[in-house]
Amino acid sequence: MTVAKTLFGRNHERLLVRGVILNRKLIQTVRRLKIPGLFIEDDISRDIESIGIISDELRLKTIDGLKNVFQNAKGTRVLSPSSLDVVRARIEGIIDELLDNKNVMINMFDLKCFDDYTYSHCVNAAILSVILGMTLNFDRETLSRLAMSAVLHDIGKMFVDKAVLNKPSVLTEEEFAHMRQHSILGYNYARDSFLLSSSCHPGIRDHHEKFDGTGYPDGRSGNEISLFGRIISVADVYDALTSERPYRSAMSASEAMEYIMGHSGTDFDPDVVNAFLRCVAPYPVGSTVQLSNGCTAIVVENFANFGLRPRVRVIAQNGEPVEPYEINLSTDFNYLNVIILGSLDIPEDAADLSDHDQVG
Ligand SMILES: [Fe+2]
Repeated sequence: MTVAKTLFGRNHERLLVRGVILNRKLIQTVRRLKIPGLFIEDDISRDIESIGIISDELRLKTIDGLKNVFQNAKGTRVLSPSSLDVVRARIEGIIDELLDNKNVMINMFDLKCFDDYTYSHCVNAAILSVILGMTLNFDRETLSRLAMSAVLHDIGKMFVDKAVLNKPSVLTEEEFAHMRQHSILGYNYARDSFLLSSSCHPGIRDHHEKFDGTGYPDGRSGNEISLFGRIISVADVYDALTSERPYRSAMSASEAMEYIMGHSGTDFDPDVVNAFLRCVAPYPVGSTVQLSNGCTAIVVENFANFGLRPRVRVIAQNGEPVEPYEINLSTDFNYLNVIILGSLDIPEDAADLSDHDQVG
């Protein structure tokens, strides 16, 4: 097996460069670093390429810029115009790349190349929010404001006690209450800094509100919750669930989608959930799936609005390897009665949302 996509480490250093041949020692290192997965090439998958929706370079630069803004907030409690401008410029670049790509379908693996959780999570939430905004037909100006709101949604965490923020075990009632302050603290900070359009503020405040009124900080429900808040909440939870965390394994894309669907109308706005289901691939390109006719296949291509019917490459039948062949589950009439039963990449110890996710 050779590495098909360069793998970056916590400090954006190149851990494994594309083209490197994997040996036992390298695989052990990857495991030890708790890297959930990487792109590989072998004879069966050689030409299957998961094209990232955002270039690695732009994503890394955005994460770096965001780090600056967050650390600045922590040190001086005054948002520096220049550091925010850097993030704003990167965000505009991200929106350009997304708008250029007419068939944007979120393949979860795209977003999982780096391990710097706090900042990459915020950037992922912004990317997912923009794609949701595009699906809801937002204009360019609104997309920009949504993205800024999403990328800064957790800035209030800079004012939360670090020991609570990084606690690997279950939070006490008191710690949980303290953690829950982050959305209103972030809102106050964004509002008082005067550097962000005021239409961005409610998204930061509302990202933990729930559609049925059981969220925080204000217990708003339905349309009382800002639209940005309702969008960021879905993006936030989806990215948290599909991320590897110290206290649990990552859920697969299809599991996380079921979670979002299951909480439509209670936690999430059903209209936003509907948009979400149209633009997220439950079986990302490169994942292995089990078909209802006994075949095992690799996903080769996803189609917007038809996430459950990708093009797949069959590699085995009833556990026995076969000469690979492809089926387009969206158009091939001979296979309309064949469905995907599930992903074969699901980790065994993936758990439900924890306290940390609920407040993250
Ligand atoms: Fe949060």
